[in-house]
Amino acid sequence: MDNPRTIVQQFDLVTTRSQMTLGVMASGHLVCLYLGPRLASRASFKNLLTDLNHASYLADTDGVHNFRLEQLPLAYPTFGNPDLREPALVVADETGSRITDLRFDHLETYPHKPAITGLPSARWDEQTRTWAFVLKDERLHLQVTLVISADEDHDVFSQHVICTNQGSHGLTIERAFSFNWDFLSDQYQMLNLTGAWSRENHLQWTPLKQGFQGVDSKRGASGHGQNPFIALAAPGTTWDHGQVIGVNLVYSGNFIAQANVDMHQNTRLQIGINPFNFSWQLNAHRTFKTPEATIVIAEHGLNELSARYQRFYQDNLMRSAIAKTPRPVVINNWEATYFNFNKQSLLTLAKKAKQVGAEMFVLDDGWFGQRNNDTSSLGDWIPNTKKLGGSLTALIKEINQLGLHFGLWVEPEMVSPNSDLYRRHPNWIVADEKHQPQLTRSQYVLDMSRSDVQDYLIDTLDTLLTENNIEYLKWDMNRNITDAYTQTVPPRRQGEFEHRYMLGLYSVLKALVTKHSRLLIEGCAGGGGRFDAGMLAYCSAIWTSDDTDAIARLPIQEGTGLLYPAAAMSAHVSAVPNEQIGRKTSLTTRRIVAEQGCLGYELDLTKLTAAELAAIQTQIASYKKLRRILQFGQLIRLPVAEPGNQWAWLKKTADQIIVDRVTVLVQPNTVEKRQRLTGLPPNALYFEQQTQRTYAADFLMQVGLPVDRPTGDFFSQRWILSRV
Ligand code: DGJ
Repeated sequence: MDNPRTIVQQFDLVTTRSQMTLGVMASGHLVCLYLGPRLASRASFKNLLTDLNHASYLADTDGVHNFRLEQLPLAYPTFGNPDLREPALVVADETGSRITDLRFDHLETYPHKPAITGLPSARWDEQTRTWAFVLKDERLHLQVTLVISADEDHDVFSQHVICTNQGSHGLTIERAFSFNWDFLSDQYQMLNLTGAWSRENHLQWTPLKQGFQGVDSKRGASGHGQNPFIALAAPGTTWDHGQVIGVNLVYSGNFIAQANVDMHQNTRLQIGINPFNFSWQLNAHRTFKTPEATIVIAEHGLNELSARYQRFYQDNLMRSAIAKTPRPVVINNWEATYFNFNKQSLLTLAKKAKQVGAEMFVLDDGWFGQRNNDTSSLGDWIPNTKKLGGSLTALIKEINQLGLHFGLWVEPEMVSPNSDLYRRHPNWIVADEKHQPQLTRSQYVLDMSRSDVQDYLIDTLDTLLTENNIEYLKWDMNRNITDAYTQTVPPRRQGEFEHRYMLGLYSVLKALVTKHSRLLIEGCAGGGGRFDAGMLAYCSAIWTSDDTDAIARLPIQEGTGLLYPAAAMSAHVSAVPNEQIGRKTSLTTRRIVAEQGCLGYELDLTKLTAAELAAIQTQIASYKKLRRILQFGQLIRLPVAEPGNQWAWLKKTADQIIVDRVTVLVQPNTVEKRQRLTGLPPNALYFEQQTQRTYAADFLMQVGLPVDRPTGDFFSQRWILSRV
């Protein structure tokens, strides 16, 4: 054989600015050749790998001396062959053998992008092309297809994998990642979004080291502690400089996103369903499709990565009927009343809300069954007419008559032990037959993989929506899955449960938005415990965090807004001292931070002074004038002298810019520097309202705007610039 590492076929997948090049070696293995900015001319990668041969303790491949698969950048590594690093696919056959050897069979191309049945995925547009790399293990009768789409206009690649059993024996998939890329280097910083409840999605940078690193969830949801995202960036990458490759999973359940640096300073980047507690029975002639991974390559730092993700998700992932619909200003009663309300107090709050200019009244929790605290009634989605002073329909009518739209909180995936639903269907919960299932917040999880549970929820929610003028649903989910077990599959297939749960959840959401196409859904999971691209495919917004403190929200929204559109990031002005952490911040700062996302109010307006109400009224009036740019303008993070203490960002459309800046702690005896902007068109001129001056774009980017001296901690400042 000629050198088995010679590239005999090369495939350049390109978008306007990015390139992914794969190749087939003479040995038939599909390999990763290049992932980065688009190369100006077509380069041949024929000999990239021919000389790769470290002196090492590695197995030969195909009986060829020194042909070591483990040194090569494989596109979809499997187990049981000479590459003994972390596989992307593990499949067991009927004998129990997990040895799998995939070789390239053929390529199919499409001028579109196939949907992934049962799972959310990005839509395609005219500029999307798809390459389906068909790999086979002939002995196993296993076909594995890497379906890679390039969205030229949005500069985004996406990949999912289809496993097909073409034989007559059953196979068991033990892992099937959505994306694997092998880099011949370890010179990267890893970026993840990590945190906890009330502290979600902080940026976490770690230099790569030999071995495993990354994040995963085994919680049955993407989780508060980590987002299904991983990026590798050049050392020293900032918001404006440095090459970065981001990978995000369009999935809301258990996932893993990891980078493994091997013995030879190569990095294997992987994302997909978490193989922990996962398996899937692949019967003869059946297929399994993984969730989609989206891959973005930015040449100039995180702002570029962020812009691409946000625009792509806005245009091609979120429901087209609502993605660009201006989001209403919400008044949510949760932090205003908690469970303690009646018809009169709701209407009093609604009147005040109307008076200050809010548009959507969201009734949060406590409206159904006997629910006066969090210990009962989940599952009984029947209005508590005593508490609501009559029917829900009548209450909504009165709220509508005040000139407000109406939204309702639900937590469909859950059931309280003290509920009629649980008494009727105790076997609908997630539990095995031997253990007492665990409670969190006094509730069990419904087994969403059951079709009777799905039907019940679709039917119940559809009836609520059809019989009432509900234009907004807050879909909460306040606990993770323990006792993972389902009665819907036999014992040896229990590894399918948590993925089947997600498929069930997505099918319920899909059924509802298909029937109620204009319905706005605000996702929520005790704050941002399931803020991911999977949920974004159904939701107009997602509650970013239960922490509503303006200062605590700064890093949370920085991380969340890195990937997800600002209009989808619910952010509310709440009371001071803040309910979660007791901090006092000004109404102006609370508003400026909330307007970074999708603005709402969540406090007892009836307790505010006339001056505070007037200030809120002015805020909302000005927000409505700036709504287009604040919700749909490009969000750009700006450089500051003291990161962590100073925060600055702008929102930009073709003719307007809004710049916001927050200083956390004021420093004594310092001179405030200027706030420099980035990302402006070079020759533009802008008129700034506060200073009443005209500035050239390059001046704004090189010299900046004058910053006011802070009058105390948590000081904020806004500039509004119009292009002249
Ligand atoms: C948790 C959510 O994050 C809150 O905003 C609120 O909706 C409560 N649940 C209601 O129980």
